[in-house]
Amino acid sequence: MRVGFIGCGNMAKALISGMISSKVISSDSIIASDSYKEGLEKAKKELKINTTLDNKEIVREADIIFLAIKPQFYNSVIEEIAPIIAEEKEKNREIIIVTLAPGHTLEKLEKEFKIPVKIIRTMPNTPAMVGEGMTALCKNNLITENELEYVSSLLKGCGKVEVVSEYMINSVIAVSGSSPAYVFIMIEAMADAAVIHGMPRDKAYIFAAQALLGSAKMLLETGMHPGQLKDMVCSPGGTTIEAVRSLEKTGFRSSIIEAMNDCVEKAKKM
Ligand SMILES: NC(=O)c1ccc[n+]([C@@H]2O[C@H](COP(=O)([O-])OP(=O)(O)OC[C@H]3O[C@@H](n4cnc5c(N)ncnc54)[C@H](OP(=O)(O)O)[C@@H]3O)[C@@H](O)[C@H]2O)c1
Repeated sequence: MRVGFIGCGNMAKALISGMISSKVISSDSIIASDSYKEGLEKAKKELKINTTLDNKEIVREADIIFLAIKPQFYNSVIEEIAPIIAEEKEKNREIIIVTLAPGHTLEKLEKEFKIPVKIIRTMPNTPAMVGEGMTALCKNNLITENELEYVSSLLKGCGKVEVVSEYMINSVIAVSGSSPAYVFIMIEAMADAAVIHGMPRDKAYIFAAQALLGSAKMLLETGMHPGQLKDMVCSPGGTTIEAVRSLEKTGFRSSIIEAMNDCVEKAKKM
């Protein structure tokens, strides 16, 4: 199977890196297109993939096609590639379209293509680049269980994968698709505080990032409740409970809930 990417920006490069490093697919089986020529040439050099400036060539060459353009470009790209998909269908070639965009539901996508197309809707995140991504998938009725399994196996090369009902995708956008951005802000803030108290910045990033990584791993590996894990750090009369009190006073929890709520509302409107 050849895998194609239309759009070779941040998310495509993260997925391609994850897939190649985990060896679920070799770089010579990947072809990507992008309208930004210099960026595409850089990706070709770094990832050793095949590239083209022609989106239609991706349809002619690849069996599984990731639409890795921004949501606002979906309509024009679908209009461009749908006739080529129809031509390939006449040659008995089955093509699977994999989408990554908020707002483009399976129902909407089926209407946009105007011809019956096999579609898997996904929501990945950029930690895919280092094999620690989290991707949700759902499919339309034309996708077989084997096809879903195959696309899942590619994405497993980039981290964890969950098949979900489509109604959950908006929650996925907030909790894992967009959340690396909130986590990086938290790391920056933690590092700033450490710098205030004299730690060199390069060290501060390592300490903050490793604390987040370790905490996440602890939760996933022990299966313990996050509140229980928090309590294990808060010694009576100690330093941590002072920090927790301050976080509660300044609305840390509700700030995260509000931010994610805004994220879901935006996804619903797209
Ligand atoms: N980034 C994330 O963390 C993340 C997470 C989950 C899902 N996603 C989804 O992944 C998709 C891609 O996002 P991204 O962050 O990777 O965007 P991005 O970095 O902007 O990459 C998209 C690339 O597509 C190119 N492009 C635009 N129109 C095109 C066309 N007609 N044909 C071919 N290439 C075209 C863009 O070139 P120009 O710069 O010249 O426009 C750009 O290089 C989006 O649907 C997004 O919602 C992203």
